[in-house]
Amino acid sequence: MKTVKIGLLGLGNIGTGTYKTLEMNKVHMVEATGLNFEISKILERDTTKKRDIAVCQEQFTQDPDDIFKDPEIDIVIELLGGIEPATTFMLDAMKHKKSVVTANKAAVAANFEKLTETAKANQVEFRYEASVGGGIPIINALTTVLQANEFVEIQGILNGTTNYILTQMTEFGLQYEDVLKKAQELGFAEADPTADVEGIDVANKLSILISIMFKKYVAPKNIPTKGISSITQQDIEAAKAEDSKIKLLAYAHKNGSHLEYSVKPMVLKNSHPLASVSNEFNAVYVTGNAVGEVMFYGKGAGPLPTGSAVMGDVLEIAKKLYNK
Ligand code: HSE
Repeated sequence: MKTVKIGLLGLGNIGTGTYKTLEMNKVHMVEATGLNFEISKILERDTTKKRDIAVCQEQFTQDPDDIFKDPEIDIVIELLGGIEPATTFMLDAMKHKKSVVTANKAAVAANFEKLTETAKANQVEFRYEASVGGGIPIINALTTVLQANEFVEIQGILNGTTNYILTQMTEFGLQYEDVLKKAQELGFAEADPTADVEGIDVANKLSILISIMFKKYVAPKNIPTKGISSITQQDIEAAKAEDSKIKLLAYAHKNGSHLEYSVKPMVLKNSHPLASVSNEFNAVYVTGNAVGEVMFYGKGAGPLPTGSAVMGDVLEIAKKLYNK
């Protein structure tokens, strides 16, 4: 049986979750694809950190070229986070004819066109399902079963950290700072949670969805964005009194040639389908001109749900490469 060797860039929270997903479901992955998967090399500075996975020192490298120039590796997973050096590494990997899988919304949103065009020019695959909505298969759905639609609107809860914070503040009256700390401990929040709480993470994800749905690139910095850092218990109580909840919403709507978009906290009636989405769960509510309204729901953050989406992309690429 063919062993698919994978190069991994970054063994942080999500890298460890991806490694764990592979360890946990290795046999299932063999059954699903007829292929064996192995993460053979890992670019990671911190080689001594205690991790709950069977990784050995020989797998670590400090030089990305060890991975890019390895003829046995056809697939590179990028989980470094941040725009650079992640983008340069992904482009380098593609130029070395490696297919690339990433969960890095900041890098994909900042360089969507460059990354997709470079992949095309080098005839390699570029997949980024995990970059939006964690474990929810939203990008796959938009680009496969829903691709026959002209999309009209999207409303989404796309950040697990802020939804967790808002839920805990609403249900248990907890303070913003205490809940943020818990979200970081649970592995939902970014290393610097400013991107989460100020809505930047959601703007990145919305930018990617707009590129896919409306074939138009809108840089995250051009999406009007407001986060939740100024939401108080008073605001939460005022919403409750109106039979409503506050949710951080990503929104885009196309009317003829006019596209409007925003990221901001909104007061939603409890009867709204997105109002019952709690904690780290995400949901995306899409309207297409043929399908009507469709809603996707699942864990939008966390090492294993994200690892599930990353490995799903890896398996799809491997099936294309080796099961011809
Ligand atoms: N920090 C992100 C979130 C991780 O909380 O949703 C998943 O993109």
